[in-house]
Amino acid sequence: MNFEVRELRAEDIPRIVATDGGAVWHGGAKKWDQRLAEQAGGKRLVLVAVNAADILGYGAVLWASGHAPFREAGIPEMMDVMVAERGRNQGVGTRLIHALEERARAANYKKIGVAVGHFSDYEAAQRLYLHLGYAAYGEDIDSGGASAPADEKGRVDDDLVLWLVKELEAE
Ligand SMILES: CC(C)(COP(=O)(O)OP(=O)(O)OC[C@H]1O[C@@H](n2cnc3c(N)ncnc32)[C@H](O)[C@@H]1OP(=O)(O)O)[C@@H](O)C(=O)NCCC(=O)NCCS
Repeated sequence: MNFEVRELRAEDIPRIVATDGGAVWHGGAKKWDQRLAEQAGGKRLVLVAVNAADILGYGAVLWASGHAPFREAGIPEMMDVMVAERGRNQGVGTRLIHALEERARAANYKKIGVAVGHFSDYEAAQRLYLHLGYAAYGEDIDSGGASAPADEKGRVDDDLVLWLVKELEAE
């Protein structure tokens, strides 16, 4: 498939919101205005995968992660990687992830991390991150921002995540 991966621009936002990317695709225009402002302020980088007609997907890196062990170790956090349902399994997600890794490497980071969910909605992401060289960071899983150690009972939802990390090799 022919497409470009580049930084988010203001004019992309109405196109993202108008795209039918499937469940949990865009999350609302307000969120995108905030993401653009955070990109302008150097807090976040947002990349989009686009062709002439469509926004195919997007993904971001938060340079100072909200997850304290990543932040303290200087590991930027990849987040919000999403490919519109009809464009999946054609390499768009892989290109987005590689482009985000490349930007982190260029900014001299040695590692990049990501949180992945536990239930079947995240099956494609779990497989893809492992395929692309991500490995468990070696922490307890996290439930709603707090560590959930052995024997903890709780709810399985989007907030129950496993932290993964990848070494960024020097080019
Ligand atoms: C996870 C997600 C971003 C992957 O996007 P994608 O564009 O389908 O990813 P890719 O096409 O690059 O890779 C998916 C699979 O297709 C394979 N693939 C890549 N290019 C391909 C091609 N041209 N033809 C056939 N298969 C291909 C990949 O090797 C990969 O296989 P794997 O599952 O065995 O690793 C997408 O499924 C998604 O948006 N999921 C919902 C949101 C989500 O879970 N985001 C992650 C949050 S942590």
